[in-house]
Amino acid sequence: MSGHGAPIPMTSHKAGPLAGEAHVPGDKSISHRSLILGALSVGETRVTGLLEGEDVLGTAEAMCAFGAEVKRHDTGAWSIHGVGVGGFAEPEQVIDCGNAGTGVRLIMGCMATTPITATFTGDASLRSRPMGRITDPIALFGAASYGRSGGRLPMTIVGSREPIPVRYTVPMPSAQVKSAVLLAGLNAPGETVVIEKEATRDHTERMLVGFGADLKVEDTDEGRVITLKGQPELTPQTIAVPRDPSSAAFPVCAALITPGSNVLVPNIGLNPTRAGLFTTLREMGADLVFENEREEGGEPVADLRAKFSPDMSGIRVPEDRAASMIDEYPVLSVVAAFATGKTEMVGVKELRVKESDRIDAMARGLEANGVTVDEGVDFMIVHGMGPDGVPGGGTAKAHLDHRIAMSFMIMGVAAQKPVSVDDGAPIATSFPIFERLMGDLGAKITRDRS
Ligand code: S3P
Repeated sequence: MSGHGAPIPMTSHKAGPLAGEAHVPGDKSISHRSLILGALSVGETRVTGLLEGEDVLGTAEAMCAFGAEVKRHDTGAWSIHGVGVGGFAEPEQVIDCGNAGTGVRLIMGCMATTPITATFTGDASLRSRPMGRITDPIALFGAASYGRSGGRLPMTIVGSREPIPVRYTVPMPSAQVKSAVLLAGLNAPGETVVIEKEATRDHTERMLVGFGADLKVEDTDEGRVITLKGQPELTPQTIAVPRDPSSAAFPVCAALITPGSNVLVPNIGLNPTRAGLFTTLREMGADLVFENEREEGGEPVADLRAKFSPDMSGIRVPEDRAASMIDEYPVLSVVAAFATGKTEMVGVKELRVKESDRIDAMARGLEANGVTVDEGVDFMIVHGMGPDGVPGGGTAKAHLDHRIAMSFMIMGVAAQKPVSVDDGAPIATSFPIFERLMGDLGAKITRDRS
């Protein structure tokens, strides 16, 4: 798990028009949570549409290491026989979460209030990411952690014997931190209260309610206050995972920048805490329509139709929209290069602690392909070159980051010269069918010899 093997250099060549239907995989956030909440219920949870990417498969393996039974059926459905809240067994092996920040942080949270010890590691990207944001709140429940300097993995967590419920204000906009605290609160007696000043993706809250937890959310002057009653018996569920808006972003953005394109991306989850990119693209002048809008499993869903949009112009993306499109800034910065004028992305310092420092990775890669970028700790400004003005011809470094690799492959579809990335292997963490899906639409993405 903790590496991707040999790097896979890739090049994307000018192509198009892009046409057809793009069936993107299941939502990564909901897939992780389905496995974890299934493992924390007593009985069988069934999941269809699970994302079978490396990150989520790592979480499935981890749930087995903690005592749950996780099985893939021939139909493609998954079942999880859970052990119940507080029922985790101590794993015999180190838990290797590969590239998955969501996986490791949520799992650390949910074992922190059970009297067991577990050691976590991951790939070079995950080992460089800050875990203090999890170990600080779980210490309040009584858990101890022993990691490398700077709160990095590998790290051992000793779960609390007598957990106490906490009241915790999340210091940064992070659904992973919020979720880790809620999952820790599941096995603490009494009420755990989590406050977030800015709303982040709310899948954990929605799914906990779905599994039968007593959870309420109030919007107050202090922020969004989430109160969870500890030690519930969670009831197994049948879950149909919606398709991932963060993955849909790639074929959608490719269609918008490639002349003559008309692409349909069906069945996309449009939870408002995730859909900020689509609002932004429309404000820029994108021809992007939601067809067949409906509700499925309590989540808004639609089919997205994206057509070539030669008249897009740069905007200042409102800061308070950042959390709802945090994973989409890399591909937005590519679209911004094909728009006219400046696109200003502000209040985005969380991008610096993702799978890579995404501001730095995008700025250097865009510059290598002839695009001017201004950046600071908390912002990035892309100077648009118009629909046929992006030179390309450069190689971007992916830094073990799937979304950086995919963003530059999208750029190459419409740039004047091919765009390369030094390593496309991490794409398999979230979007294992990316090359085939883009190829079927008409893109020309090749694997190069390293
Ligand atoms: C996620 C939360 C976000 C996001 C990540 C998935 C989740 O991370 O970037 O890809 O599923 O909770 P942060 O909580 O660090 O913002």
